[in-house]
Parts: sequence; C-alpha cells; structure tokens
Amino acid sequence: MSASEAPPPPLLAMRGITKRFPGVTALSEVSLHLRAGEVLALVGENGAGKSTLMKILGGAQQPDEGEICIEGRPVSLHGVPEAKRQGIALIHQELMLAPNLDIASNIFLGSERSGSMLNPLRRRAMSSKAAALLRRVGLNISPQTPVFTLTAGQMQMVEIAKALSANARIIIMDEPTSSLTAGESERLFEIIHQLRTDGIGIIYISHRMAEVLALADRITVLRDGHYVGDLSRTEATHDGIVAMMVGRALVNAYFPEKRAASSLAPDPSLDVRDLVVEGAPAGVSFTALRGEILGFAGLIGSGRTELMEALFGAKPARAGKILLEGKPFAPRKVADAIRRGVYLAPEDRKRHGLVLPMSVASNTSLPDVANYNRWGWLDRQRERRIAEAEVKLLRTKTPSIRQKVVNLSGGNQQKVVLGKWLAMSPKVLILDEPTRGIDVGAKAEIYRHIFTLAGQGITILLVSSDMEEIIGMSDRVVVMHERRLKGVLTGESLTQERIATLMMGRADIAA
Ligand SMILES: Nc1ncnc2c1ncn2[C@@H]1O[C@H](COP(=O)(O)OP(=O)(O)OP(=O)(O)O)[C@@H](O)[C@H]1O
Ligand SMILES: [Mg+2]
Repeated sequence: MSASEAPPPPLLAMRGITKRFPGVTALSEVSLHLRAGEVLALVGENGAGKSTLMKILGGAQQPDEGEICIEGRPVSLHGVPEAKRQGIALIHQELMLAPNLDIASNIFLGSERSGSMLNPLRRRAMSSKAAALLRRVGLNISPQTPVFTLTAGQMQMVEIAKALSANARIIIMDEPTSSLTAGESERLFEIIHQLRTDGIGIIYISHRMAEVLALADRITVLRDGHYVGDLSRTEATHDGIVAMMVGRALVNAYFPEKRAASSLAPDPSLDVRDLVVEGAPAGVSFTALRGEILGFAGLIGSGRTELMEALFGAKPARAGKILLEGKPFAPRKVADAIRRGVYLAPEDRKRHGLVLPMSVASNTSLPDVANYNRWGWLDRQRERRIAEAEVKLLRTKTPSIRQKVVNLSGGNQQKVVLGKWLAMSPKVLILDEPTRGIDVGAKAEIYRHIFTLAGQGITILLVSSDMEEIIGMSDRVVVMHERRLKGVLTGESLTQERIATLMMGRADIAA
C-alpha cells in the first residue's frame, strides 16, 4: 500500500486516558476519536466520566495517564490557553460569559487581541468581525448588546461565535440544550449541521436520547469511567444506547402504570382561586386533589415558576385566595409554606438548593432546616440514615455520604437536592423540572418514587418542559401561556398535540 492510500489520522485521538480523584477513579484507560466534520455524541449515566474527559481535552484538568493526538501529532494540553491554541473550545453547561460586557467584548475576551478593544479604531474592526460571527451563528442582534439581556439560547450562540473566533476545529458542548426552549434547541441543531459542513469536529454530551439519535454520526458510550463501545448512526437505537449505558436492559416500563384520574377521591388538597402573581395579566384558578399529580406545561417564561414561587411564599401574590385542606393559606414567606407542609424543589437547584463545599449528608438534611426551621439540634443518626437511603434510592454516585457535593458530577448534584425533597413527607410537594440533567436509569427511579409519594396522599405539582414526562406522570395537566391558564387536560384529551396547541397560546380546538 503506498503512502497516499493510508487513511489520514483522525482530527482527534484520546488514548488510554486515566484520571483519579481521592476515592474515585473517574476515568480508566478511556479512548475516544473524532473526525473532521463529524458529530460525536458522548453518553453515559451521571458520574460516568463525560465532563471529566472533556475537561481534560479542554486543558482544564490533567490526566494521570494517557495520550492525546491531534491529526496524528501528540499534544500536551497544559491549561485552557494551550488547548485553545490547539483549536479546542469547551462550552461548559454553566455558560462562562461576563454578563455586564457586550457581546463583542465577550467574544474577544481572553484572546490575544482583547487589549486592542480600548483602541476605538480597532474596536470598530472587532465589532464588524463580531457582527460577521454572529451572522454565522444566525444571531441577528447588535454586537453591542449587553450579555445579561440575552436568553440562554442566545448566550449559547455567543459561546459558539467565541469558539469560532478562536478558529476552533473541535467544539465540545456539555449538555447544551438543558436550559434552552424547543425553538432555541432547533436553532442550535441547525448551527451544528452548518459547523459539521464546515469541517469542524463536534463532541456533544446529552442525556436526551432523541437529540442524540437525531444529531450524532457516531455515539461513544462510557460506563463507570470505562469505555464501553461505539455505535454508528445506523445501528443506534434508543433502547440499545440505554442498555450500553446502564449495563443491563431496563426491563421495567419507564413510567409506572397510570391510574385513571377519575379514580382519585374528590378530596381537594390545594384550592387556588384567582391568584394574581406580581406582573401577571390575570388571576389563575385550579384545584389539586389529595394524591394527585398535577402537571404544569408551558414554554419557558409562561409563568409556571412564578406561580409555584407564589404558592411557596417565595414571591408575593397580589390578589386571590388559596385554601389548603379547606383552610386559608396565604404564605408571606417560605417559612409559612414549610410550616403548613408545602415544599418546593426549585428549578435552579445549584443556586437555591445546594451548599457545594458541604457533604452529601449535610446537604440532605441541612439547607431547609437551617434556613427555614428551628428544629433544635441536628440528629446525626437520622441524617445518616436518610442520606444513605436517598443515595441508594437514586443511585447517586459518590464514594460516601461524607463526600463534598462540589466533587460530584452535575447530575449527581441534582440527585442530592432532589433526594432531600423526596425524603420529606409534605402535604404538597412542588417539583420544578425534577429530572433535568438526570440520566435515564435514575429518571425511572425518580418517577417510581413520585408515584409512591402520590399513593401516600401527597399532592404533587409537577412543572416540566419534558413532554414525555409530563404526559407519562400527570393525572391532569394545566397548560399555561404568557402567564395565563389556557386549559386543563386529562384522560383522552391529554395528548402532546393538545398540550402544544394550548402552549402556543392557540385556543383548544377539540372541546
Ligand atoms: N474534583 C473532583 N474530585 C473528586 N471527584 C471528582 C471530581 N470531579 C469529578 N469527580 C468524580 O468523577 C466521576 C465522574 O464525574 P463527571 O463529572 O465526569 O461525570 P459525568 O459523566 O459528566 O456525569 P453527569 O452526567 O452527572 O454530568 C464522578 O464520580 C465524580 O464524582
Ligand atoms: Mg457532566
């Protein structure tokens, strides 16, 4: 075979990568390769090692063993600037933009040229360069727009523009769609297709199998820090990927068998009458029954989170009336709600629900106790028992319940906070996007647990942007649009089409 027939080396090859942390081997001898113009999905359960592998590629962490080659040449990626010089851009799940600076400054921040931003002439040149980059990612806004005014989707596009400005040939996206609307996700997928056509290699991490199947040319699966295998686009199926991820077939149905909504006793638990939340155009009324799972569907910004915060006393209600088990309920602060047995597991769990430098056990018991309650001293044994039970139930990956939460993977951090709320026995449990960032195996466990709680008579208000989840879990679904209640669906009428119609603000056609 002559030299010209030898296949060119892949754009990227990582071989035998091992990374150890105290008590945890995050990666053992993992290999991965990527070709130019390829979208590679990287999947695995929470704690499988995806983010760690990508942090190593982005220069943010150093491997203990292993080799990285770009176009066949070994490289050492000591630090983020070095990785950038090699054409690698890592877009973190928590976006890293400076909110008070405008888009152009953000794009060139940290590049060699950022100093020249002070020179007005150079600034004009940068600004037109930024405008060209924004057009390339399909963002039709001025480069002078301050970043804090952008939506999550627009920030994602700015991050991609930033990667392109640094001439990245490898772009890594770690769970990019977890805070995007459906429309923004569509836009992102179009740009990924364009980048692929331009010959850029993309590594895409996601827990959403539908996205993975739609986007990826190839899928690399990790399990417990080990490489399990690759699947090509043609051989990949939802169940096949999941079986490789979890190492067993998920035999149990994803959603437990639903009871008929009509089988619930007509025993109102929460009765909300004309509740007007600050800034909302009209009052909202609904009744949730004892033991009911009442879903709340709507687009991001449709007012679901504000409504839940009002029920939890975290946001003032301007007018209206709430009855909790027949008695007036007007929470003015969170402590009022908790005292009456109304709990909320918030959407942004990192900000509201976790103390990162503290242990799994302390996080399971502490935040609400310290902030909202005076239950006296802490019962260490009870704390350990609950933390251990929750870690087991949700299969949280941690060397022990004494591990600091900051050292857990993203999804396992989510499990810790969620575990804390699931361990309580409130009257009303509000769950805002409970499974965001959580892997498929653990999702099934969480769903089963929510059903058990409802079976014990706890009323669950479930806010979710995951259509499958909201239909699979809810007895009835309240649909909101622009902070108004557009309809309540149940039984036969609880379909994806009917929800989508109401969510877009259109009238419900089929009566
Ligand atoms: N700084 C650290 N110290 C100790 N352990 C760590 C550290 N960073 C990661 N780990 C551990 O390494 C393992 C892999 O974590 P990683 O964040 O790579 O998982 P992941 O696949 O990205 O999971 P997720 O889907 O939840 O984001 C986990 O067990 C995690 O707890
Ligand atoms: Mg991760």
